Parts: sequence; structure tokens; C-alpha cells
Amino acid sequence: MKELLDRRLLWVGGKGGVGKTSVAASLALLAGKRGRNVLVVSTDPAHSLGDVFDHSLGDEPRRLAPGLDAMEIDPDAEVEAHLKRVTSQMRRFTVPRMMDEMERQMRLSRQSPGTQEAALLERIARLVAEEGDAYDLIVFDTAPTGHTLRLLSLPEAMAAWTDGLLSHSRKSEELNKVLKHLTPKGGQDVASPFADPANEGESDLDDRARSIAETLKDRRRLFMQARRAVEDADISNFLFVMTPERLPILETVRSVEALKEAGIPVAATLVNRVIPSSADGAFLSRRRDQEAQYLARIDRELAGYPRPRLPLLETDVQGLEVLEDMAGHLEQAGF
Ligand SMILES: Nc1ncnc2c1ncn2[C@@H]1O[C@H](COP(=O)(O)OP(=O)(O)OP(=O)(O)O)[C@@H](O)[C@H]1O
Ligand SMILES: [Mg+2]
Repeated sequence: MKELLDRRLLWVGGKGGVGKTSVAASLALLAGKRGRNVLVVSTDPAHSLGDVFDHSLGDEPRRLAPGLDAMEIDPDAEVEAHLKRVTSQMRRFTVPRMMDEMERQMRLSRQSPGTQEAALLERIARLVAEEGDAYDLIVFDTAPTGHTLRLLSLPEAMAAWTDGLLSHSRKSEELNKVLKHLTPKGGQDVASPFADPANEGESDLDDRARSIAETLKDRRRLFMQARRAVEDADISNFLFVMTPERLPILETVRSVEALKEAGIPVAATLVNRVIPSSADGAFLSRRRDQEAQYLARIDRELAGYPRPRLPLLETDVQGLEVLEDMAGHLEQAGF
């Protein structure tokens, strides 16, 4: 599995609380030590990457160690930035008397379901396709499974949406041509909600439609580029973290299947918090018996994937020292 840290993108996912953030942080640290220039990014709106590093993080990369930067995407800030971009573009195309209505729409969309995810996805796509070019490796600390799966399948949804709009605008272009033939004085742009035919000439309308279509195409290109990178096992891999317990195992088996169906390569399933053999006492020995059954089950049900193990540490994972310890264990486990 050493090669995982040699690729460009690594997604660390899994059920809530299994150790995604700790593992993402230690792997990033390990790759940085090996001389790669690494960015570790938290995409979970409930951030804890900064806590794990014992360092406050923000929406732009901050240097934590040689070769290691970290950031936490702020979904609210992304929504604001996104709406600002949209508003300023619309402003160019909207007649003054419609500005109030447009601003009302923008206020509504700030609260509508999916807006945060769309904004988050846009930032991730930009990191993957553009902004992250300065790094050799980007490690994504993701939110619990459901959220991440939805996020990774959003590009298709957004592409479909863009395509719909584009074909709609093409249709309205054709419709316009027909109308122009029928009405000798020149047609009105029937399908454009931004048009005010009383004030605008025909060529302005064409420019507007073209410019909106260009923006949509750029977005589509960005999402598809990111999507292609995520599907390419030579560029990007998904690492599933779980603990040797019933629910995390069930969820991992399900999610690995879902990712496979979505065309996203899963490189390995990491079993975290395995009771170390050095741990003593009757209580732990009983726990270890139960754990052995779960470990056997993992070997059976996830036989098709590498299943490295990471021991339960004596303390919580916080601060560089513990992260280095964890990175050492990850190295021993084959990373
Ligand atoms: N190998 C380990 N040994 C001891 N404690 C661990 C280990 N791995 C993780 N932990 C601890 O388990 C808790 C959960 O870890 P972490 O926050 O990394 O999980 P997560 O999957 O990112 O959680 P969330 O789903 O909430 O984002 C933390 O308190 C962390 O310190
Ligand atoms: Mg986390």
C-alpha cells in the first residue's frame, strides 16, 4: 500500500468516530516526512482536523510541518463566495427593475437544501482540478460515509442539470430563430428570464445567452475533470477506516460496494483501534476474544481488499507527537 501516498489524491472515509481524521492527519504527516508536498483538507462541516493537530485551521492552507499544509473547508464561507460570484454575474445580465427579485432568490437559495453541499463540492472540485496543483498529494478527511457518497455522486447530478440548461438555451435559440422569421420586426427572447426586450437589442440578448452558456460549460468542465481524476486509480484512491465492531463492519461492506458501483476505486480498508497484543488484564483478554471474531469476519467479508491494522493507542490522538506515533504504526502496517 506504500503507493497510496505516491498518488495525487487520497480520500479517507468511514463511519462516524472510527478514526478518519486521525488517520488522514497521520498519513499526511507520513507522506510529508517522505518528502512529498502534502495538503490535508477536512471536508466535514463538523471539523476536527484542527483539534487533532492542536492548531487552529481555516479556509486557506496553513503550514504545520515541513511539507505539510492543512485546511478546513468552511461550507458557509463557500456558499457566500459562490452566491457572490453568481450575483455579480447575474447583475451584468439583469435589468435594474429585476434586481430586487434576484436578490430575494439569492437569499432563498442560501437556505435551500443542497446549497452547502454544492458549494462544498465546488471547492473540492477546484482543489482537485486547479488550486491543488502546487501539492504532490492532497489527503481528504471526509465526513461520515453518507455525506461523502452523496458529495462524490453530485458531479453527475450537476452535469445533468447543466446539460439540461444548455439544451434548454439551445432550444430557445432555435425557437428565437423561428420567431424571427414569423415576426418581421425581430423576435423577443422568449426563454430568457433576464431579458427586457423593451430596452435591449437583439445582439445583446445573444451575448448574454452565450456568456451564460460559457459559464455553465466551465462549471461542467471543472466537475467532470474532478470526477475523472477521482475515478482514476493511478491518481486517486479511497481508504476506508473502520473499527472491529459490528456496525462499522456492516457499514464498510455496504459502502465499499456503493463506491465500486459509483466507479470510485477503493484501495484498502484499515482496521483501527485493534487491541494490541501487549495489552494485559482479564477484561482486555475478554474484549480481545470478541474482537477476534470481528477480525475474522472482516477477513471474510472484505477479502478482496488489503486490510491493514492499526493498534488502539494509549491516548487520544491529539498533537504532533501522538500523530507521529500513529504515523509510525501506519508505516509498520504497510503504508
Ligand atoms: N488508534 C487509536 N487509538 C486511540 N484512540 C484513537 C485511535 N484512533 C482514533 N482515536 C480516537 O478516537 C476518536 C475518534 O477519532 P477521529 O476523530 O479521528 O474519528 P473520525 O472518524 O474522524 O470521527 P468523525 O466521524 O466524528 O469525524 C478520537 O477521540 C481519537 O483520538
Ligand atoms: Mg473526523
